Formats: sequence, C-alpha cells, structure tokens
Amino acid sequence: MGENIPSPHAVVVPLPAQGHINPLLHFADLLRDRGFFITFINTEWSEKRMLQSSKQFSHRSNFRFLSFSDGLPPEHGRTDQLGELLVTLAKCGPALEELLRSCSGVPPVTCIVTDSAMSCTLSVAANLGVPRVVFWIICAAASITQKYANVLLSQGHIPVKVSEAKRPEKLISGVPWSIPDLLPTDLISSYREQYESDIIFKAFLFESQQSNEADYTLVNTFDELEGRDAISALSTNGCPALAVGPVFLPKVLQGEESKLGSMWDEDESCLEWLDKQRTGSVLYVSFGSLALKSQQQLDELALGLEGSGQPFLWVLRSDIAQGQNAMLPEGFEKRTRDRAFIASWTPQLKVLAHASVGGFLTHGGWNSTLESISMGVPLLGWPCLGDQFLNCRFAKDIWKVGLEFKDVDVEENRLVPREEVERAVRDLMENEQLRKRVFELKEAAIKAVMPGGSSYTNITTFIQDMLEKAE
Ligand code: UDX
Repeated sequence: MGENIPSPHAVVVPLPAQGHINPLLHFADLLRDRGFFITFINTEWSEKRMLQSSKQFSHRSNFRFLSFSDGLPPEHGRTDQLGELLVTLAKCGPALEELLRSCSGVPPVTCIVTDSAMSCTLSVAANLGVPRVVFWIICAAASITQKYANVLLSQGHIPVKVSEAKRPEKLISGVPWSIPDLLPTDLISSYREQYESDIIFKAFLFESQQSNEADYTLVNTFDELEGRDAISALSTNGCPALAVGPVFLPKVLQGEESKLGSMWDEDESCLEWLDKQRTGSVLYVSFGSLALKSQQQLDELALGLEGSGQPFLWVLRSDIAQGQNAMLPEGFEKRTRDRAFIASWTPQLKVLAHASVGGFLTHGGWNSTLESISMGVPLLGWPCLGDQFLNCRFAKDIWKVGLEFKDVDVEENRLVPREEVERAVRDLMENEQLRKRVFELKEAAIKAVMPGGSSYTNITTFIQDMLEKAE
C-alpha cells in the first residue's frame, strides 16, 4: 500500500466455537499477509477462553482483537446449548455495530467477513454500507444443504425421518447442484424429526435463510476436491462464490503454524512421543471440540483400541463424557503404556503432519476432515452431530479416503462395541488404497494454495473485488 492510502480493513466475525474460530483466524491471517488490516471479533466468553490457553497470544501488527458480550450469563454452557447461543447471538447486531463505531485510529472498514451462522452481521454491514462476505467453515456440499434448507423444508425432506433414511427412493434432489446420491442422513442432524420442537431446529433454519443475504461467498474447501459446480451453487443473486481453502495450509507449508485460537492447553509432549514411533504406525483419535460420548461408549472404545494392537494417540477432552470426568477401564493405562499416549488437547495440525501418524479416528468435523485430507492421513469416520454425517460419508463414498462405522449415521447414539472398533482400526491402518488416494488429494490441496493454484487465485480475485467495491 502507498503511504497515504489506508490498508483495506476486514472485520472478521466467527461463531464463538473452536471449529469456527480456527478457520476464520487462518483466513484473517492470510488476508493480513496480503495487506489487509484485520479486526477479529470474539465474544467476551470465547476471547477469555482463548486468552487463558494461548501462551503466545498475538501482538502481530495490523491485527487486533475486539470482543462483545453475547448477553448470556457466565454459567451458561454456550456451545453445549448451541440453539440458545444462536438465538442470543442473532440479536447482537446493535452491540457489534456500537463496538465498531466506537473505535478510531484504524482504516475505514472495507468488508465484513462473517461466519454463515452469524446473522447479526447483516444489519451491521448494511448500516456501515460495506459488503457482507459470508464465509462457510463447512464443506461446500454441507453448505448447500444449509443454504437451501427452506427448499428442502418445503419439499418435505426436512424434518428428516431417520427411520426411512436408508430407503433408496428417499434420495434428495431439488437443490440446484444435485449432490450425488444425497441421503436424508447427510442433512445436518439438527433437522432430524426428534429435534423438531428443539430450539436448535428453528435457529439453524433461521441462520440458513440469513446466509442467503450475501454480497460475496467464500468456502473453506478447494475446487479440486468438490468441483466448481458445487461451489458456484453457493452463489447468491449472481454474486461470486469462491473456494479459498484449505485456509490453514499456507502457513503450515511455510512452517509457521500459529496456535493463537486454541481454547484448550495443547500438550506438546505428544510430539516427542510420536518421534519415537514407527512411520505410519500411529492411529490418532480425536472427536473435536463439541462431541460427547457416554462413559459406556468410552469404555468400549478404549478396549477396542487396546485390542487392535495399534499404537494410538487419543485426545480425551476433559468434558467429553457428557460433562462428567471421563474414566478409563481399570488397568487400561498400565496395559497400553508402551503404545499409547493420552492427551487432553493436542496441536492437531502438527500431529497430523507427523510421519508416525497413519490413520485418524475422527468425528468428521469439517476442519478435522480437511486437515486430515491435506496432510495425507486416511480417516475412520465416527460422526456425532451436525454436518459430520455428510463429511464422513463423502470421505468414504465420494473422495474414497476413509472408512466409516456402519449405521451410526442412522442411529446417532448406537453403541459401537469394542470388537467393531478393533476391526475397523485394523482395516483402516492396513488399507493401501485409501493411503494412495488421500495422498493424491494431499498433493491437490497443496497445489491449490500455492501461487497460481485455484484457492490462491480465488483469494486474489476476492481481494481485487473488495478493493474495487471500496473505491
Ligand atoms: C464444529 C462442528 O462440530 C463440526 O461438525 C463442524 O464441521 C465445524 O465446527 P468441531 O466439532 O470442533 O467443529 O470439529 P472440527 O471441525 O474438526 O474442528 C476442531 C478444530 O480443533 C480443528 O481445527 C482441530 O485441528 C482442532 N483441534 C482438535 C486441536 O487443535 N487439537 C485437538 O486436540 C483437537
């Protein structure tokens, strides 16, 4: 930028949850590298959690963090009562606008890059007279099912009748880009009939509608994975829709992975343990930041991992056992001492990039799925909620980089017994086809984010369009 021309200024607003903050922080960082001034807006709750765990909280230039109150009492669980959180956040437009108007000494706002589930940014962008850039942190296929949720509702596909979900005539059509063999169980689980009277059902429908109010759409995927047609189907009123991901990858390739968004303390010592394991031998087990498992399921999982004979690194989040302290079966730690590492949170990008890791047992959150694909690690999907059912199925059936437990997509809480865990882990770790295919996609992901690649070029187009609009 010339001396007298202020930097373009992007205000970035994630939904306050780990899986949403991470990709938006990475994208904000990419924009900063390309000359933007960034205002990254957390809620006071999410900022506090990030500050508590992040030892190197950012003091980088041209990057500031602001926060506003979400209006919920301190004891509210936030992400474990997502419906209530969404409804409350939807009313935060005035607070957000006041926050932005109260700051001086920064360049004028060029655009608002908003999580697709943060409808409160709609009035803010309109009142500031700047483009509203809707950023989908989930894959394009899942975003399409969200964007067209009202169409699916009017056609009777929502609420999803899970009992009929596997019948072939139940395939869904009618969204502009016909996703190959879209199944009712591919729709986000909050749209299932058992949640119809739940606050989350309406909250998601509302947010889906508002996501259609976009001047520009970006999605954290890449053209070579999902295809241009899928990404174009996210366009609203002829406004561009572009794939810009994987957004975390450029920094990883530069050896510069930042951990400023983490809400938990990362146990770096797992990396030293990985250094001592054989190449491709370790199964990484993690269910992201929100998924819960019953204590009985955790027992079966532990015994299945033990029975598999495979070395494993397991993220046992402190709150995973439905709010209780997770317990391990008696004698388990002693018996698996020479081939297991249990952590409460890991530096996941470094773990997946480690040569010892050969497979990932995952809930299939989009970040984990994309991270695994981009690092060339095959997946064993065990979805729990939201878009994870679609991600795990696509990883298996469409991208052919993963396996899945049978029928967990239909019976959300089916107990997976230890024998099944054991068998599936072995199948994953021995499958050379998956390894070959995921390696091809890894190469494609790297190419996409390098100068001249599809996502790199799309970010350049986006920046040019924003600069033109600001003139
Ligand atoms: C949420 C939803 O649950 C998911 O369905 C949606 O696709 C994205 O938002 P979450 O469940 O947290 O996400 O999973 P995921 O999308 O995988 O994001 C988790 C993030 O935390 C990843 O970026 C992962 O690298 C990071 N992580 C996870 C760590 O850094 N360390 C860990 O130990 C575990």
